Amino acid sequence: MLTCRVSSTALPEAAARPLPPALTSLLLHAACVPAGFVLAAQWPLLPWTVVAGLFAALASLALALPAWWVAINAMFIPALALALLAELPASLWLCAFVALALVYWGVARSRVPLFLSSEAAVQALAGLLGDTGTLRFADLGCGDGRLLHRLGRRLPQLQVFGIEYAPLPWLLASWRTRALGSRCRVAWGSLWRLDLGRYDLVYAYLSPVPMAALWEKACREMAPGSLFISNSFAVPGVTAEREIGLDDGWGGVLYLYRVRG
Ligand SMILES: C[S@@+](CC[C@H](N)C(=O)[O-])C[C@H]1O[C@@H](n2cnc3c(N)ncnc32)[C@H](O)[C@@H]1O
Repeated sequence: MLTCRVSSTALPEAAARPLPPALTSLLLHAACVPAGFVLAAQWPLLPWTVVAGLFAALASLALALPAWWVAINAMFIPALALALLAELPASLWLCAFVALALVYWGVARSRVPLFLSSEAAVQALAGLLGDTGTLRFADLGCGDGRLLHRLGRRLPQLQVFGIEYAPLPWLLASWRTRALGSRCRVAWGSLWRLDLGRYDLVYAYLSPVPMAALWEKACREMAPGSLFISNSFAVPGVTAEREIGLDDGWGGVLYLYRVRG
């Protein structure tokens, strides 16, 4: 059964946590670094940072942070110590910080990092768009525009639109899709400000965090009968009309939801 209603008990675990994992991790390090220092202060720098990392990993497990945050928190302090020991020029750190900020813009708030749709996803989408005769396609958070470019090249009748708020991927997407001419537009901005009602098929490859709110937005704005497709992240509490397994080596799945009137 397909419905626009989202079960209130089906919020993703991460969304139910009061603090975002990045802030939780910062606070957790504020406690674990002094604790590691007190316990192993007489040891050389690297061993005691390993103790601090171990504490941070245990605290992350106790707070039920996702597995990748446990790994990040375990490695953060030892990696910081190693980086300081390398005595690299400060300008290098500044350049790396600026480059990462331009690519992962706002990720601490949105919790949607950049990773790209596989060729298997592009093929499956191209098949669906061709079968359904879709004319206007939108990729929410279009990254470097690779997906828009590939779909636009395969389907010459398709109008493709992408929106991206990280500056560097947006620039790349605009440059990459320039050959599609007026059939393609890539906007710099937030998907939450976009009117989804202009598109027959909306695609998202984001993270579990925004899915419930995004589906509510799709139901509010998209025309009845139009399709909302999420790559790998299902809408919590809503049964997809169809699921297409992707042969991408990651066990990816396209979840197809049809907007009802
Ligand atoms: C996982 S990537 C997917 C890239 C592309 N859609 C693809 O499938 O290859 C998600 C992208 O969404 C962008 N993003 C996250 N939140 C956004 C928002 N609120 N508005 C616009 N873009 C957003 C991120 O910067 C990132 O580039």
